[in-house]
Amino acid sequence: MCGIFGYLGKKDNAMEVVVKGLQKLEYRGYDSWGVTSDLDGELFVEKKVGKVSEVKLEDFRDKKTSIAMGHTRWATHGGVTDANAHPHFDTERKIAVVHNGIIENFQELKEELGKENFVSDTDTEVIAHLIAKYRKDNPFKEAVLKAVKKLKGRFAIVVLNVGENYLIAARRGSPLIVGIGDGEYFLASDIPAFLEYTQDVNYLDDNEMVVVDGGVEFLNLETGEPIKKRLVNIDWQAESAEKGEYDHFMLKEIMEQKETILRAINQDEDDIMHVAQKIRDSRGCFLSGCGTAGKMCMAGEYFFSMIAHRHVNYAPSSEFKIYHHFLRPESLLVVISQSGETADVLEAMNVARSKGAKVLSLVNVEGSTIARQSDFSLHIKAGPEKAVASTKASTSQMALLLLIATAMIGELQEGRRILVDVASKINDILNPRFLTYIKSVAEKIKDHENAYIIGKAENYPMALEAAIKIQEVSYVHAQGFAAGELKHGPIALVTEGTPCISLVANDEVRQDVINNTIELKARGAYIIGISPENDDVFDEWIKVPDVGVASPLVNIIPIQLLAYYIAVLRGLDPDMPRNLAKSVTVK
Ligand code: AGP
Ligand code: GLU
Repeated sequence: MCGIFGYLGKKDNAMEVVVKGLQKLEYRGYDSWGVTSDLDGELFVEKKVGKVSEVKLEDFRDKKTSIAMGHTRWATHGGVTDANAHPHFDTERKIAVVHNGIIENFQELKEELGKENFVSDTDTEVIAHLIAKYRKDNPFKEAVLKAVKKLKGRFAIVVLNVGENYLIAARRGSPLIVGIGDGEYFLASDIPAFLEYTQDVNYLDDNEMVVVDGGVEFLNLETGEPIKKRLVNIDWQAESAEKGEYDHFMLKEIMEQKETILRAINQDEDDIMHVAQKIRDSRGCFLSGCGTAGKMCMAGEYFFSMIAHRHVNYAPSSEFKIYHHFLRPESLLVVISQSGETADVLEAMNVARSKGAKVLSLVNVEGSTIARQSDFSLHIKAGPEKAVASTKASTSQMALLLLIATAMIGELQEGRRILVDVASKINDILNPRFLTYIKSVAEKIKDHENAYIIGKAENYPMALEAAIKIQEVSYVHAQGFAAGELKHGPIALVTEGTPCISLVANDEVRQDVINNTIELKARGAYIIGISPENDDVFDEWIKVPDVGVASPLVNIIPIQLLAYYIAVLRGLDPDMPRNLAKSVTVK
C-alpha cells in the first residue's frame, strides 16, 4: 500500500535514486506516482497517474541534486488523478509532503486553513498547508512537530522544504524505515527499496520523527525530546528481492517453497517451546490475521485441534474487536502476518492489550511493527515476498503452526521430521513436468468466469485460501467451501462444465470429500482433483505427495500455480493485481 522513498546523501543523482526506489516499491500496489526535489532553490515536481516502471531512469539522471523524495499512491481520499498524486504542497509551493495513511480530521483542518487554497481532493494536502502555517513563526523542525500534533489518523510522512537541505519524516501507524548508508540516508516504506545500498536500518516507531541532514536525529513527536534508536542489520541479500530468471515474483516465490519450509522450521527449540507453553497455559487463545494469513490461522486452528487437542479460536483481525468481552489478562492472541504492518492486525493487538492479554506473533519481516509490538515474536524466515499474492510466506506460517502444535504435546522432533519430509516432497513436485501439467489445466479452465473449491477438515481453510489466490491474480470469481456445505446451497451454482477443485487428502474424511465431489460431478462440474491418489470422479488429477496431517502445505501449491498460470494466460500481470496492495496499512 503506497510507497514512500526519500534520499539525501553523497550521490548527485538523487532523483534517479528515488525513481528507482519507487520502482522497487511498485509491488506494494499503487495507482499514481510522483517525485520532487530541490533543484538549486526551485522545486522540481513530476507526478502522474500510471506506472512508474515505465519511467526512463536516464530522464532523471541529469538533474543534479543530492536530495529528493517520491511516492506511489494508493488512493484513499480523492480520485486517481495527476493532481491528487503526491507530493502535495503549501500555497507557495515551498513545502512538499508525501504521505501514507489517512488523516481523519482533514475536513475540519481544511476549513480552518481556507479550503479555497487547496488544489487537490486528498486528505494529505492539509499537512503541507499546516506546516507552512507554523513555519511562519518557527524553524522547519518545530513547524513539522507542531503540525503533526494536529493530525488525527494514521500516517507516515516525509517533508521537504525548499532551501533547507534536509528531509523530515514522522510516523504514527504507517511504516517508515530509515536506511543508514555510508554518507547517505534513505527513508522508505519497505526495506527492499534500498537494499542495494545498505542493510543497516533504524525502524521508526509510532510517534517518532527523524531529521535527516548530514546525519540522523530521532525525536519523540509528542515531546520533541531526542531519542536513541538501535541500528539493525538486515540479513536479506539484495538479489533475494529481485526476480532473477523468473518472469514474475509470484512464480519465483512459489518455487522458493523448496527451501522456505526448511528455513521456517529452523528455529531455536527454546523459542518454539516458549510459544507452545504460552498457548497451553493461556485461558482463551485466539489466532488472528487477514486474508491469506487469516486462512493460515484457520489451518492452525485445525492443527492445534487435531494434533494437540487444544481448542483455539480463529478470528479475522478486522472482526477481532467484537471478541473483547472474552479477553482477560490470561488470554492470548497469536497474530500472523507476512508484512508485519497490516493495520487491522495492529488494531486487533491493541484490543487484546487493552484487556491485559498477551500477544505473540509469527511474522516474515523481522523488526516490523507487529514484531516490535508483540510480547514475543517468531520470524518465519521466508525472505522478501514481493508478489501481492502471498505464497511462500503462507506455507512457512503453516509449517511453524504445525511445529508448535507438535511441541505442545512434547513431539517437537516428530513435528520436525514431518516437515522435513514435506519440504523434500515439495522439492520433488516443483519440477518442469508438474508445472507444464498445471499450465495445461489452467489453459482448460481459464475462460470460465466461476470456479469452486472444496475441502474438508484441515483442507477446508485451503479451499478458502485457494479462492483468494485465484480471485486476486486471475479475477476469476472463485469461492471455497467446506465440502459438506455444498448441498446446503452452493451446489445451485454448478452447471455443465463449471471448474470445481476438490482437495482430497488421504485422511479420515477422504470418502466424505469424494462423495461431495461426486455430487458436483452429477451436476456437470469439471472436476480437478488434488490428491495423492486418483479417483474415477476426477477429470484432471493433480498428484500430490501423501504427507498425512501436513496435507494443506502440499495441496495449496498446485493451486498457487494454477492461479498464476490462469492470470498469465489471461494476459494479466499476477504480480500487480488491480485494486490490491501488498501491505494493507489502512483499516
Ligand atoms: C494474500 O495473497 C493477500 N494479498 C492478502 O490477503 C494478505 O495475505 C493480507 O493482506 C495479509 O497481509 P499480511 O500477511 O502482510 O498481514
Ligand atoms: N490518503 C492519501 C491519499 O489518498 C494517501 C494514500 C496512500 O497511502 O497512498 O492520497
